[in-house]
Amino acid sequence: MRDMTGGHDVKTGAMVVLPDVQAVARHMAKWLTEQALAKKDGPFVLALSGGSTPRWLYRALASADYRDRFPWAHTQFFFGDERFVPEDDADSNYNMAKTEMLAHVPVPPANVHPIPTSGDPAQAAAMYQTELEKVYGAKVLEPGRPLFDVVMLGLGDNGHTASLFPRQPVLREKKLWVSTCVPDDAPHTRITLTYPAIHSSRHVVFMLAGAGKREAFAKVRAGDPAEPASHITTEGELIWLMDKAAAGQ
Ligand code: 6PG
Repeated sequence: MRDMTGGHDVKTGAMVVLPDVQAVARHMAKWLTEQALAKKDGPFVLALSGGSTPRWLYRALASADYRDRFPWAHTQFFFGDERFVPEDDADSNYNMAKTEMLAHVPVPPANVHPIPTSGDPAQAAAMYQTELEKVYGAKVLEPGRPLFDVVMLGLGDNGHTASLFPRQPVLREKKLWVSTCVPDDAPHTRITLTYPAIHSSRHVVFMLAGAGKREAFAKVRAGDPAEPASHITTEGELIWLMDKAAAGQ
């Protein structure tokens, strides 16, 4: 196991560049399954990303290739962020993961932790943090004892990741694990993991595809501080998993 005090950031993380989004999805399905099967000391704690790119991965994991191989009962499924909409809303990240994967695999319902999206957003964020604390077994994140085994992230064209959007107060949050965000350049109030919660991980994997990501990736890879994704760190390993189009190749 790598030295957990080392840690990576967006500039030092490894790049894995594959021909297209399907190859990215297949690679991630294989890697995630290996990571989950290898986790012996406790459950495999995974934060799923939202948007549309992960759709291909979720379909791969629900396919005959992985449905009976992935250790669903050994895994706790959390979400990196959520739009504050009903769970059956077309814009819900949970709805997409459920439709493409969770409804088609033998995952115990208690292992799936949707972010609450009713009532008051700040209370929903606090409730989600409580759920994470229960799985973690403490209320304070301890360096060297990461909360997540894997945090999956996407990258928005405006450099956002999870729901850490430009110009929003959540970018300054150093204590809370989960908070709210009202983007000024995207729809819906959001609930999101914060930088310290994402940092408390063994692996962060950015998964992106398409030429539309090229500019944002280049800025973040160069560490442009104006891009929220540039400030992502992990105690462990950071991987950029992308297709040639997003890598600018
Ligand atoms: C969300 C996602 C968000 C996403 C990026 C990239 O709720 O929108 O969590 O952070 O990862 O917007 O989305 P695509 O991969 O669909 O381009």
